[in-house]
Amino acid sequence: MRYGAGLLFLLLAMTGFSAEKGKLLYQRHCAACHGDRGAGGVGVPLALESFQSSITDRYLFNTIRYGRPGRVMPAFKRMTDEQINAIVRYVRSFTPHRKLVLSSAPVRGNAGAGKQLYRKHCAACHGLDGEGGKGTGVTFSRPRDLPIIAPALANSGFLRATTDQMIKTTLMRGRQGTPMQSFLKKGLSEQQINDIVAYVRSFEKAVKRKAAEKRVHLAKGHRQPIIKVKSGYDMATTISNLQKAIAASNYKLIRTQPLEQGLVQKGRENRRQTILYFCNFNQLNTALAIDPRVGLFLPCRLTVVETGKGVYIYAINPSRLAELYNNDRLSRICGAMRDTYLSIIEEATL
Ligand code: HEC
Ligand code: HEC
Repeated sequence: MRYGAGLLFLLLAMTGFSAEKGKLLYQRHCAACHGDRGAGGVGVPLALESFQSSITDRYLFNTIRYGRPGRVMPAFKRMTDEQINAIVRYVRSFTPHRKLVLSSAPVRGNAGAGKQLYRKHCAACHGLDGEGGKGTGVTFSRPRDLPIIAPALANSGFLRATTDQMIKTTLMRGRQGTPMQSFLKKGLSEQQINDIVAYVRSFEKAVKRKAAEKRVHLAKGHRQPIIKVKSGYDMATTISNLQKAIAASNYKLIRTQPLEQGLVQKGRENRRQTILYFCNFNQLNTALAIDPRVGLFLPCRLTVVETGKGVYIYAINPSRLAELYNNDRLSRICGAMRDTYLSIIEEATL
């Protein structure tokens, strides 16, 4: 008897502990974007009954694990399953909701017909190719009082987390309290909705093709002595994107200056050539201790150049330079540095 009570106490303490843990993890990793109790902000609201009743725990779990690559929503790759489950339970405590019970029957539809319907009914908000709301969901600079942004649907994280039946549920019911309406109420038939689901699912192919192209592109970057990437943005935006990506990669921006600074009369520097110096001091010190010649290419630097053809980002590939030193330890550090360069550039040019 005493034993049983002790066990019960332990169990209660453990569940209490897990709830507290979920709350702490949520506050640390999610609240800044989704609001303290899920009211939304840069991130979509999570506390709405209409949202909670149209998704599964599995969906929440996978969304946290895989994130939404290319959008603001990060992937929490290093969290343990247990930590993610604790967050899921905490998010579920925001609002009373119905448990979503989905049939496992596949949604059969005609993707071709769905495409026409998508263009007519969805593209204005979710983008012609499912890329998501314009200028939002990819940037921190969005004013907080704008309406809820439409998430990207042609997104590996979304497509991996969701199921056909969940997409269908969202289209049938809509999400009350957001711009996402019920298309059944808007007059579409269930068959038309099935067609749209089939079309949204077909984004998977395009997403995979893009990912493959990017991998090839990055693989090429691995061997080139000079990394050169064209930015789709203007000079100022490219520089600001790089600065943000540098900070987000745990590097410290040292300074941003015209390439010609100190070489020509002050104020007459060419503003279309800018260099960013940044550093991870741990990495720098480790590398210097191995071989002081790394001072040739450290601290890290990226050069942004505007030409008649567009804005380009250049970097010396630290990994190729390291080959000159023939030191495995240094090569490993420089390989990691190259990967960071590539991911910073990728992030800034998405
Ligand atoms: C008026 C703008 C608007 C239109 C039109 C619209 N949506 Fe949405 N949609 C949104 C918003 C905003 C959300 C996010 C809702 C939320 O916060 O829960 C959303 C959410 C979704 C979701 C859930 C995505 C996720 O990450 O959970 C799906 C799926 C979806 N919409 C598909 C569609 C499809 C397909 C159509 C066309 C039949 C459509 N939407 C039309 C604005 C729109
Ligand atoms: C840096 C901001 C940011 C952080 C941090 C963040 N999110 Fe998000 N989250 C977003 C944005 C923006 C979206 C919408 C994705 C889009 O626009 O395509 C989103 C989408 C989601 C969705 C899908 C919503 C839907 O309508 O289906 C869930 C669930 C979610 N986030 C949960 C979380 C949780 C839980 C955490 C913490 C572990 C977290 N997010 C951390 C910004 C963030």
